[in-house]
Amino acid sequence: MIALITGANRGIGLELARLMVARGDVVIGTTRLMSEAAELAAMGVTVLPLDVLDPASIDALRVAMEGKPLDVLVNNAGVSSESKTLASCTGEELARVLATNATGPVLVAKALASSLEMSSRRLIVNVSSQLGSIRNNTGGSSYGYRASKAALNMLTTCMAHELRPRGFTCVAMHPGWVRTRMGGQQAPLSAPDATSRILARIDGFGPADSGTFVDLDGRGLPW
Ligand SMILES: NC(=O)c1ccc[n+]([C@@H]2O[C@H](COP(=O)([O-])OP(=O)(O)OC[C@H]3O[C@@H](n4cnc5c(N)ncnc54)[C@H](OP(=O)(O)O)[C@@H]3O)[C@@H](O)[C@H]2O)c1
Repeated sequence: MIALITGANRGIGLELARLMVARGDVVIGTTRLMSEAAELAAMGVTVLPLDVLDPASIDALRVAMEGKPLDVLVNNAGVSSESKTLASCTGEELARVLATNATGPVLVAKALASSLEMSSRRLIVNVSSQLGSIRNNTGGSSYGYRASKAALNMLTTCMAHELRPRGFTCVAMHPGWVRTRMGGQQAPLSAPDATSRILARIDGFGPADSGTFVDLDGRGLPW
């Protein structure tokens, strides 16, 4: 399998890259700073720079991948939001989180669509979060993060519908609560445990899953 994972220099992306390389997959991992990618490169991952907030960077990725086939795009790069309350929300922060977590994956998918079309797999996995579930929002807080993942879920279903006739599978996936810089040390799952379950889902996703929002065991989550 040939996979491109965004935000692969640390956290879930790094562990997923490690697992995939270990079993013989070809992995392209992106990083904002090439200086942060030594571990990734040492594993045998092809490292490309990508800042999803920078249109020129996304275009450079498109050019770097032009004419190269890709089976799976894992839109993993993401940020959490600092503002937990209405009083602390700012337009600047909301816009930054939405641009990173929702707009970014769409623009990356757009840039890599022709590479994905060179493969019969044509799988786009958008790493979402259960915090993006509107039905499950019983606690409020994390305004920007929740909104960005709800938007990502909607954008995933838009892509799923539009691209289904072209053979694409587009899925929104909650990766579990994982011990990373974002997830924090109190999270119950280690990154290796989470990513082995994430990879099992990636391997199993097919056209029937397109447009779904699932957890790392493949269970459907409410929108
Ligand atoms: N950990 C959890 O419990 C949890 C739960 C639910 C969902 N998720 C989702 O899982 C994904 C991975 O999370 P994680 O826990 O591995 O987080 P993490 O350790 O904080 O890693 C985030 C990754 O995203 C990259 N990134 C951030 N902004 C970017 C940008 N503008 N352009 C390109 N890359 C950017 C980071 O790069 P830098 O190193 O340059 O900052 C880093 O590689 C995220 O989408 C997150 O929302 C995580």
